[in-house]
Amino acid sequence: MAQRNKIEHEGVTRRDFLKGLGTGVLGSVVIPASPLVKSVKAASPDVEELAGTVSIQITVNGKVHKVSVEPRTTLLSVLREQLQVTGPKPVCDRGECGACTVLLNGKPVNACMVLAVDAENANIVTAEGLAEGGELTEVQQAFVEKDGLMCGFCTPGFVISATALIKEKGTKLTLADVKAGLAGNLCRCGTYPKVFEAVLTAARRIEEKGGGV
Ligand code: FES
Ligand code: FES
Repeated sequence: MAQRNKIEHEGVTRRDFLKGLGTGVLGSVVIPASPLVKSVKAASPDVEELAGTVSIQITVNGKVHKVSVEPRTTLLSVLREQLQVTGPKPVCDRGECGACTVLLNGKPVNACMVLAVDAENANIVTAEGLAEGGELTEVQQAFVEKDGLMCGFCTPGFVISATALIKEKGTKLTLADVKAGLAGNLCRCGTYPKVFEAVLTAARRIEEKGGGV
């Protein structure tokens, strides 16, 4: 019986199917899936090409890397799993928490939301790449001094976002500026007051020194 229904309805059209919904015969309709799949493939000839891997080059913390990635691979995954750069943290993996924030050509991005192929030839900086010659930046130093962390899982993301904030907005920041600038970073431990204090302290020190971030 099931076979007969299948044969009878193999040629069912979209119109037939919709009619069926209205007359209560849905249970006997077998929707032919293969024509739809074929038409999607015909409209998107790249579908099968996307199945493999591609080789890309990215610069991470000043070092050039060649990596092989699938089109779906995220920048976060390349950093952590292929390059063992583990500062950016996978927490929500959907662009909501900021724990994976890195600088991509100087701009802060959520690495979990960037496809690796879109970062080809980009210059990536993670928290590991901020200190020069083993000397912490003012932002990093202030996080340490002001105790701006508890478990520390959110900290690399906050440090990168704070660095980008001071670079973009300058050092004359108010508390409101800092709160707005770091709104994309979440801390499950609730260390916000100390994080904000650290960023304001760093901005003030950079201002006093007249130097860069
Ligand atoms: S892990 Fe990327 S935003 Fe949360
Ligand atoms: S210090 Fe634990 S999540 Fe922020």
